[in-house]
Amino acid sequence: MTRDSSTTGPTEEKKDTKWTDSQIRWLDDKVPGEEDDTNASDDDEEDEMPFDPFADPDPTEVFRFRFVAKTQKGRKSSAPGTAIEAAGSSDDGTESINLNIHGYKTGSDAVWQSTGLTLWKASTYLCDYMVEHVDELCGERVLELGAGLGLNGLLAHRLSAESVVITDGDSDAMKELRKNIRVNRRVAPQTGDKCNDDAHQGQQHEAVSAEQLIWGKESAETFLESIAQTAGSSVSSSQFSVIIASDIIYAAVVIDPLWETVRTLLRYPNGQFWMAFAVRKVPVTIDFVLNKAEEYGFRYELVDSQVDGHDDSDDIAEGDSETGRVFIYRFSWDETKADRDRICVGVKET
Ligand SMILES: C[S@@+](CC[C@H](N)C(=O)[O-])C[C@H]1O[C@@H](n2cnc3c(N)ncnc32)[C@H](O)[C@@H]1O
Repeated sequence: MTRDSSTTGPTEEKKDTKWTDSQIRWLDDKVPGEEDDTNASDDDEEDEMPFDPFADPDPTEVFRFRFVAKTQKGRKSSAPGTAIEAAGSSDDGTESINLNIHGYKTGSDAVWQSTGLTLWKASTYLCDYMVEHVDELCGERVLELGAGLGLNGLLAHRLSAESVVITDGDSDAMKELRKNIRVNRRVAPQTGDKCNDDAHQGQQHEAVSAEQLIWGKESAETFLESIAQTAGSSVSSSQFSVIIASDIIYAAVVIDPLWETVRTLLRYPNGQFWMAFAVRKVPVTIDFVLNKAEEYGFRYELVDSQVDGHDDSDDIAEGDSETGRVFIYRFSWDETKADRDRICVGVKET
């Protein structure tokens, strides 16, 4: 793994650790840091690309989305001219949410180095699921793992999660993510309250942030302690009620660190982890991931399965490996297995 310090965007005081997921990208199951000729460890060499006369002169892309979500029952209607109204709230009990996500085209060289620089298939399926389950996000404390460009976390924010922390390990993806937050966050505090709870009014503006998080027990504990300290709250109240992730399963080497992270950051006992993934020919299977989940004290439920937009959850067996299929699983604590003391080991209450 290549690590050194590099500064981020102008609005961020924090420095990200230089880290790209190029060593664990699709079809490459190397342990980060292992010697490998194809991944020169010298930064200068990594940055030096040979001149390619056929290279796309503009490898960037803006992915545009419009989601229509129902407003919450009992929601006070927003006053004319407020941010909500401008964002597309209508009388029929729905509002439209537009997100413009900046990144790179799927086949670009940049994406080969850092998969988080583009949008992956499962993320849009997870978006649809989130829209359908908006009631479970509204007012919740949400974390996105392996967010890349941040589509899902931004949607959670716009669906009125109380607060959203959008994370990725990849320092290049973090730069794009921060730009996307600036472009897509709510532009002004809302005056109507989507969650029918006065306590949430006016909090939307600062309720979304980006943080670098490379998975693993120690880094997750440090991350949690840091956000608890910043918020002046306890470690347990800084844990997240909903964790979301899409298309983050492609290297076996990060599955233990992933579950260590979820185990450290998910609120106990009611926290939920929603994970979407598109089946690909990668050296890690969903069965492996599900077995690991159980080892780490979670139970799981397959809540959606689709091929090219068609629901086929009745026709398939869990763990089917046909490529192209997208699964969404929900993980929750298995209280019969989860030993709370074991789960919190190493995380000190502040
Ligand atoms: C295939 S991309 C998916 C990005 C986004 N979730 C989507 O669906 O469009 C996988 C993301 O997971 C991140 N990732 C992979 N391994 C990671 C790790 N060990 N720690 C933190 N992030 C990681 C990568 O940096 C990348 O942004």
